[in-house]
Amino acid sequence: MYAQMVTSEATNDDPAKLVAFQARIDAGEKIEPKDWMPEGYRKTLIRQIGQHAHSEIVGQLPEGNWITRAPTLERKAILLAKVQDEAGHGLYLYCAAETLGVSRDELTEALLSGKMKYSSIFNYPTLTWADMGAVGWLVDGAAIMNQVPLQRTSFGPYARAMVRICKEESFHQRQGYDIMMKMAFGTPAQKAMAQDALNRFWYPSLMMFGPSDKDSVHSAQSMAWKIKMNTNDELRQKFVDQTVPQAEYLGLTIPDPAVKWNEDKGGYDFSEPDWSEFFEVIKGNGPCNAERLEARQKAWDDGAWFRDGLMAHASKRATAKVAAE
Ligand code: 3HC
Repeated sequence: MYAQMVTSEATNDDPAKLVAFQARIDAGEKIEPKDWMPEGYRKTLIRQIGQHAHSEIVGQLPEGNWITRAPTLERKAILLAKVQDEAGHGLYLYCAAETLGVSRDELTEALLSGKMKYSSIFNYPTLTWADMGAVGWLVDGAAIMNQVPLQRTSFGPYARAMVRICKEESFHQRQGYDIMMKMAFGTPAQKAMAQDALNRFWYPSLMMFGPSDKDSVHSAQSMAWKIKMNTNDELRQKFVDQTVPQAEYLGLTIPDPAVKWNEDKGGYDFSEPDWSEFFEVIKGNGPCNAERLEARQKAWDDGAWFRDGLMAHASKRATAKVAAE
């Protein structure tokens, strides 16, 4: 089975409380951490916010790989700032998850043991500088498409974290497109690199939105609870509709001969990604899954002395405070 069976059903909850809770959701009220909530709602949020936080943190790796090799000082400074932003996004999201009663350490352990997922996209390698353009343009572009609606999600801390994240993601998307413009309007060799990056990142970007609606396990309940605001296929379609004209402007070709404007539906037709590849990647068998988790495990192990130091300092201060009282 490719999905965690976090139950979305609130089996042991008081039916009257459930009705009142759903009425609050339907009225567009925000749910805050100390409010009553069904157990399934809490678990679904921890799963989604936690996965999102892990994606931000693991997502630093493919781009961090290029900081020392950026072609100019300016590009290096921009990329460095972007990668730092992703760390900040991870922190806001871990904090939002913590308000639901799970600690950041527990979430990290679940990531490292393979119990929790992170976005499939970060299991693909970044082979050339043009990939920094494609990642910003397509990956951050897809992330924004998914995350702008999440600013209206029902859980207050998640919705508020999303506001700042979306502002920063839109800068990330622009810097990626700027790199693509430079490459696509540059020499024939640069243009070929840009096309190659688009070829490799197109389908993995479409996969970021999750499986097709018929295979999405959580969408129905998550949308009823306004944890998700749109289905996976709705957002994938919007992303294609936004991105195809951007590729045309660059003079690049979407690597899918089926891409064609469909007047009747008011959007582009396109081919589905290879879903068997997606399911393999999220099961841990993508090109870089092992490398990504090894890097996070190493960061966790290397940081042990610092965490120990912080705890020792905090306990010393607490002891000193008690002694002074
Ligand atoms: N990568 C990895 N796992 C995925 C996935 C993806 N692209 N898409 C779906 N899945 C997993 C789900 O997590 C679920 O598995 P689980 O039960 O073990 O958690 C399973 O596949 C079934 O999919 P569903 O459609 O039923 O799952 P959801 O309702 O959770 O929808 C989602 C998936 C659309 C990704 C939703 O969780 C979501 O909107 N999450 C918040 C946004 C997010 O996490 N974005 C990460 C993008 S990367 C990023 O933001 C970094 C930036 O810097 C680019």
